[in-house]
Amino acid sequence: MKITVVGAGGNVGSTVALAIAQRDFAKQVIAVDLEIKKDGKSFFPSKGRALDQWQTSPILSFDTHVSGTIDYADTAGSDICVITAGLPRRPGMSRDDLLSANRDIVKSVTEKLVEHSPDTIIVVVSNPLDLMTYVAWKASGLPPSKVMGMAGILDTARFRAFLAEEINVSPKDIQALILGGHGDSMVPLPRYTTVSGIPIRHFIGEDKLNAIIERTKTGGGELVGLMGTSAWYAPGAAAAQMVEAIALDQNRILPCAAFLDGQYGLKDLYVGVPVLLGKGGIKEVIEIDLDQEEKALLQTSADHVKKGLDDLSRLN
Ligand code: NAI
Ligand code: 2OP
Repeated sequence: MKITVVGAGGNVGSTVALAIAQRDFAKQVIAVDLEIKKDGKSFFPSKGRALDQWQTSPILSFDTHVSGTIDYADTAGSDICVITAGLPRRPGMSRDDLLSANRDIVKSVTEKLVEHSPDTIIVVVSNPLDLMTYVAWKASGLPPSKVMGMAGILDTARFRAFLAEEINVSPKDIQALILGGHGDSMVPLPRYTTVSGIPIRHFIGEDKLNAIIERTKTGGGELVGLMGTSAWYAPGAAAAQMVEAIALDQNRILPCAAFLDGQYGLKDLYVGVPVLLGKGGIKEVIEIDLDQEEKALLQTSADHVKKGLDDLSRLN
């Protein structure tokens, strides 16, 4: 199993690469980034970070070989490619501000990946996530089942972590689901949130639950406010979980940005929904029952994604 991570000289990409290597299911991880010129010197962040990571293998105990490159020929025959290349969100910047810069990056990266790995599966992380996944799908020429975005696992992990802290239980026992776009209009679903199968409302009052839902929706922005750039540990771990599910044909049911063709009454967009993830990518989009309020919230979130797609086509 050969996995490529593009943008791996940066925060999320390098975290994905190491998280994959530590899980020790792949033969090799190829870390791609640009050559960076500074003060008349050339730097190769993906080569440097990959070398540093490979040198953790005797200590962290994994066999997956990690190597860095700026040459896409080295990515040839990749089973799965993760795209984290792009600009991160800075304070005061919305995810949509990143639109045109990251569209050009994601498009060109995807074209180069598919040129060398025509049957690969692509997991997009670059923001604005739902739109960049659409851009990668279009640029790849691959079936939508083989192109997907990472956001729902991260957003749900934040929700689960906040709930675990509030009610003082292990985050491992909290199961939850968030639908919609990766933005402030995402739709956390308390009706589908449990602690070891017990409905979450058994443990928490409505006011505290609503406050946690709001904190989850703005969870990415909270971290940007603290660090001056966006998060990488949880995003990296989330993308690695998707790669592992596909590589090991785990049939995980995970929230991912998937192409919808009529499911949930939505068409021709990528948006977060639960999917069956395993060999070959997305085996199925799982459609769950939603009440009137949940449907309306999902529609609002999808409308926001659709507006972004309209902006994208205007930029084209
Ligand atoms: P970063 O700036 O640390 O890393 C981005 C890397 O991409 C840099 O090393 C840069 O050199 C590289 N890059 C830029 N253009 C490239 C190209 N054409 N080819 C190859 N590499 C290229 O940024 P960070 O924090 O790693 O974030 C990466 C992306 O992930 C951003 O768009 C960010 O908004 C997004 N993100 C998405 C999340 C999600 O939930 N989907 C969560 C966190 C970040
Ligand atoms: C996050 O949610 C900014 O999308 C990034 O952390």
